[in-house]
Amino acid sequence: MNFDNILLTQEDNIAIVTINRPKKLNALNKATIADLHTVLKALGKDKNTKVIIVTGSGDKAFVAGADISEFADFSEKDGAKLARKGQEKLFTFIENLNTPVIAAVNGFALGGGLELAMACHFRVASDNARMGLPEVSLGVIPGYGGTQRLPQLIGKGRAMELIMTAGMIGANDALAYGLVNYVVALEELLPLCTKLAGKITNNSSVAIGNAIKAINAGFSTDGYTAEIEAFGASFGTEDFKEGTTAFLEKRKANFPGA
Ligand code: COA
Repeated sequence: MNFDNILLTQEDNIAIVTINRPKKLNALNKATIADLHTVLKALGKDKNTKVIIVTGSGDKAFVAGADISEFADFSEKDGAKLARKGQEKLFTFIENLNTPVIAAVNGFALGGGLELAMACHFRVASDNARMGLPEVSLGVIPGYGGTQRLPQLIGKGRAMELIMTAGMIGANDALAYGLVNYVVALEELLPLCTKLAGKITNNSSVAIGNAIKAINAGFSTDGYTAEIEAFGASFGTEDFKEGTTAFLEKRKANFPGA
């Protein structure tokens, strides 16, 4: 399988999917989401693939978010569609895969990048990783499951603070919060993920698939639909226009509050 925006390697029943847009800090554009959907769907059906590791190319970013240049002029309807399609094709899709997916967070995991890491079944970070959901600094809210999965993983109060401040936390805080399971040096990241994946491959794939289903069932909520609606509504605000324009013009946003 060959893709424009991702690289795939496979060895010992473990697949490594690398998001490969380093010049844009691996930001998730539409084409990358489509590539990820195609590869994950195929790997999910492949009996020889027992664990999938998702990471970013380069040493700076896992994924720096959804590609802001693609949605800056979207309407409310377009915004809701973006969130719904993204959740369906990638985020909820990963969470519900029967094959375990580990996020190897190798740098910035912001916005859609952290949402992607959180949709994976668990996360390992390198010590240079920085994580956050900065959407409100753009006048929008997380739309790829972030308002649901962040509180599930780190608790409501910490999630409220991180989302409201649009702040970033480092790898060690993420470890203390339970957002990632381990922190290691960057060169140890894929070796550790591969080692953990190797332990998983010794166990029953069928039982693991059923365990994923059962664990996810305990977190099923219609909050995701509320998120899609609120995300779409953001696109009708003056604040959204100012936030995204300011990012693309590389200046600080001056929100009108409307
Ligand atoms: N969407 C589109 N392009 C993005 C992007 C995103 N989410 N994140 C980074 N890029 C692009 C930049 O525009 C820049 O492109 P250019 O070289 O053509 O100008 C390139 O990636 C490198 O990013 P840059 O901002 O120059 O790197 P930096 O080291 O100064 O800053 C970040 C790194 C991650 C702090 C900064 O890129 C950032 O804040 N990104 C947006 C994060 C965000 O808000 N994500 C949520 C989106 S909903």
